[in-house]
Amino acid sequence: MLLRRLLPLLLIAAASLVVAACGSEGNSVSGQSAAVESGSQLFVARCSGCHTLSAVGAEGSAAKVSSAQRTNGPNFNTRKECYENVIYAIQNGGFSGAIMPANIVVGKESEQIAAFLAKYAGSEAMSGTGSTAKCAPVPANAGD
Ligand code: HEC
Repeated sequence: MLLRRLLPLLLIAAASLVVAACGSEGNSVSGQSAAVESGSQLFVARCSGCHTLSAVGAEGSAAKVSSAQRTNGPNFNTRKECYENVIYAIQNGGFSGAIMPANIVVGKESEQIAAFLAKYAGSEAMSGTGSTAKCAPVPANAGD
């Protein structure tokens, strides 16, 4: 009898553990600077709905042209990004300013995301294209 009453509670407790684990699921970023690691978490929370990046399990970009939506942003597995360009895109809403909302994050948080993307975006870029893009170095105190 007691078990019958307790069982639903146990199930709810177990389910909430699963939900709690979801936030970090697929985020393989570790052993990096504090700024880059918190940038990766901010990216999951604020950017992953519209952008793909497998280092953090984000799948927001369009998978197929036929099911693409207007808000699907570039795939950061294949697109290399420089630090200043990410700052620019965050402040202006992408490069065109037409679709991505501007200033989703500001200040220190935008620097952390930019430091993270400058390091992780473009890992699958074809050589000779994005991967060799020349970027200025990420400022040493970015996101501190
Ligand atoms: C509502 C969907 C949406 C969200 C949320 C979003 N983006 Fe975007 N983003 C887009 C779209 C769509 C584009 C491409 C169109 C454009 O540049 O105007 C884009 C473009 C970009 C670009 C330019 C990439 C390139 O090479 O053209 C960067 C960098 C970028 N986003 C970073 C971010 C970051 C960082 C965040 C989180 C703070 C974020 N985005 C959140 C939709 C989004």
